[in-house]
Amino acid sequence: MSLQKFPDGFLWGAATAAYQIEGAWNEDGKGPSIWDTFVRKPHRILNNDTGDVTANHYHKMPEDVQMMKEMGLQSYRFSISWPRVMPNGKGAVNQKGLDFYDHLVDELLAANIIPNATLYHWDLPQASQDLGGWPNRDIADWFADYAQVMFDKLGDRVPMWATHNEPWVVAFTGYAIGDFAPGISDYSQAFQSVHNLLRAHGKAVQLYRKGNYKGEIGIVLDLQHSQPASDDEADVAASHRRYELTNGIFLEALFNGRYPEQLMDWIGPLAPDVQDGDMALINQPIDFLGMNYYMTFAVKFANRGGFLKFSQDFVSSGNWGKTDAGWGVNPAGLMASLTHLRDHFGNPKIFIMENGCAAIDDADENGYVIDNDRINYLRSHLLTAQEAIQEGVNLQGYYVWSLMDNFEWAHGLSKRFGLVRINYETGERTLKKSAGWYKEVINQNGVYE
Ligand code: FCB
Repeated sequence: MSLQKFPDGFLWGAATAAYQIEGAWNEDGKGPSIWDTFVRKPHRILNNDTGDVTANHYHKMPEDVQMMKEMGLQSYRFSISWPRVMPNGKGAVNQKGLDFYDHLVDELLAANIIPNATLYHWDLPQASQDLGGWPNRDIADWFADYAQVMFDKLGDRVPMWATHNEPWVVAFTGYAIGDFAPGISDYSQAFQSVHNLLRAHGKAVQLYRKGNYKGEIGIVLDLQHSQPASDDEADVAASHRRYELTNGIFLEALFNGRYPEQLMDWIGPLAPDVQDGDMALINQPIDFLGMNYYMTFAVKFANRGGFLKFSQDFVSSGNWGKTDAGWGVNPAGLMASLTHLRDHFGNPKIFIMENGCAAIDDADENGYVIDNDRINYLRSHLLTAQEAIQEGVNLQGYYVWSLMDNFEWAHGLSKRFGLVRINYETGERTLKKSAGWYKEVINQNGVYE
């Protein structure tokens, strides 16, 4: 067993998102989000679960920050609920909502934990959806106003900001596939959403620069890795189309100021309406690229595979099986994604903002979980990350998804991703074995092979 060390200053953290952990869905002046609406419709969510209470973090925040301290976290990535701060999506600001995040940031700093804030992790104000949501061009301005409110309030103390979390999921799972809120099934709305999400990102970055805040700003993409199921030319081309749909559309726009030409050609009339100046707005320098990594797909040409003519399957590398969410385990795909960024996008500064797995997590009578599967999963991805750094990838930090068990979107409360177990009946928190293991990783700044 040898210790694989990370570079000095490598940042270690864990991540959550507002809707998944806060609860308090209608308290202290918070407005409804599209998720509050969606979970109230029958059969949208497994077991009709909701995020109404979930981990109840809104009421347990100081206790949770103490727990993070005990775990040795150096940084905590959280998201801000737009409708908690601006109940109508624009206009009036809810002071109590702002106070919650203000207090969170102060608690974190007092505990010596670096706050890393994401402005949008999927809980759009319902009022904004009622005006058309992400497909409406005006939303970029509504988002910019909201971003300005948050920069004004927290910009002096939060050194790391991300505009969006996984805009692919927002656009496609929300507006094209319809599995997630707002549950719409219309590809043209999805492609228009991609464009407006990116314009909103660009406007927020612009405001951040203008305000001369002391930190850094970026965006968090879910870089799923696509690999051809065979060497067949049709599979290779299909895999590339899938790459352009999930990754290229964002990476090319952000880094090179254009959408992938071939993809635009294939989607024809579904392509977004791009107006003068839009691509320059989107293509502004960011300070870092956040990436979430969970999955790799084997992609095949499929003559009945929809308008992009492909089919896909989760694929695991080596002897890995699947996680409790049914996702493959594929650290090799993480390596491929990281080196792709190094080789094709100028080796940007990267933080892995999410990585982790759902596991079965049987708790004993004290709520303790021996989650060896999770430890093995995290270890293998960290060893890969360390190797990528040796190969010149500019990776500067890693956040486990997730700090604690939470509401896993369409899976409801059934999937557990936390380093900390939540007892949803009592609200009790119990550190899992993986939390102790991760604390040692942080202490050693390295992982044993
Ligand atoms: C990511 C999301 C996060 C969580 C994990 C498991 O796609 O960003 O909220 O659901 O997956």
